[in-house]
Amino acid sequence: VTSTEQTPLAIEIGEEIEREGGITFARFMQRALYDDPLGYYRSPERRPGRGGDFITAPEMHPLFGIAISRHIAECWSRMGEPPSFVIREYGAGVGGLAYDIIAGLLDAHPELRPGLRYEMIELNDHRRRQAMRAMTEVGLGDVVVAAGQPEPGTFDGVILANEVADALPIHRLIVRSGSLREAWVIRGASGGFAWDERELSPDSEAMEIPEYLVNHGVDLAELPEGSVIEVSPALREWTREIAQSLRRGYALIVDYGYPATELLREHRLQGTLRGYSRHTVNEDPFIDVGMQDLTAHLDFSSVIEAAEAHGMRLEGLTTQADFLERVGLGELLVNMQQQEGMTIDVYYRAQAAVYRLIDPGGMGRFRVLGLSKGMQGASPLRGFTETATHL
Ligand SMILES: C[S@@+](CC[C@H](N)C(=O)[O-])C[C@H]1O[C@@H](n2cnc3c(N)ncnc32)[C@H](O)[C@@H]1O
Repeated sequence: VTSTEQTPLAIEIGEEIEREGGITFARFMQRALYDDPLGYYRSPERRPGRGGDFITAPEMHPLFGIAISRHIAECWSRMGEPPSFVIREYGAGVGGLAYDIIAGLLDAHPELRPGLRYEMIELNDHRRRQAMRAMTEVGLGDVVVAAGQPEPGTFDGVILANEVADALPIHRLIVRSGSLREAWVIRGASGGFAWDERELSPDSEAMEIPEYLVNHGVDLAELPEGSVIEVSPALREWTREIAQSLRRGYALIVDYGYPATELLREHRLQGTLRGYSRHTVNEDPFIDVGMQDLTAHLDFSSVIEAAEAHGMRLEGLTTQADFLERVGLGELLVNMQQQEGMTIDVYYRAQAAVYRLIDPGGMGRFRVLGLSKGMQGASPLRGFTETATHL
């Protein structure tokens, strides 16, 4: 139970709760992040973000994007080097990762340029405009397109999402006497919001969680009383969208998260929902509504299952540290030493960033999920093979 001064969006959500008599947490999260214009992701300001000392991996250093570009080049090659090739990035923000990927790709494969189309899917209008301006300034206006939503229809290429899917709304389910209840959001005593345990909403019911747990070797009756299980119909829906939009090619999803068996271990059963606000991380989604970022770890098993149900195949699920090492991040760093005009401080900055990107206690523990469609018979991708290249 929380109470703080109310933001304008908190007041609006409070009115909906009065009307409805309570809303699911997924509905609350949907509004807090995506309401137009007051939701967190609609704001013109760039607020300090989540995790990794409040910057994302691409913001850390261009080597991250260049390493990803090596993976994408490999996907292109596995697809038979098609002359027309689309990269669709969800949550492209101001285009930093897009720029590094395009630069890395065109450096290695200049022949790709005429057929390359990079789609930045970013729902924030301000970030999208800023990204397009920057891309036009650096002469990439002909390669990049930006949109709030992907166009319907299918394409051949690669789908990419870095730290986006963890912002899709979740429902919070609670284990009570061996069965599941749901945490709904109601008005708190002092004007804020509070949790209220009730029966499952129809959306949560439709996720068939008891069966899902059984399939992952977990007995609901044996979970500790009060365990929290987060479920996301929105994540399942988004996975369906990416699976159906790809005719042939690959997807790469990088995020906080675990496969179900790890997520359902006792110490994670308090839930992974976090708020990022005023430079700190907290466990109170009800403060600074619309001004704080909300995230929950992905259940990668549910993503894989939804993808497979729509014709995709698992290429691999690994940590960011292993993935980056395998696609040659270390090699890229070593190559920097040979670059003409390289200075010690530029090199050390890159080296420090590489350590942070692969730090097992930090960003290195993010997960990287590879999926493919229509690629039966293609050899495995280097990023997901067991033989690591050593630094
Ligand atoms: C944490 S930022 C990550 C940005 C970038 N991918 C990076 O790694 O630096 C999440 C971005 O995804 C956008 N976003 C969030 N949900 C989205 C959705 N459902 N569809 C498209 N973009 C979304 C946000 O506006 C924000 O720019």
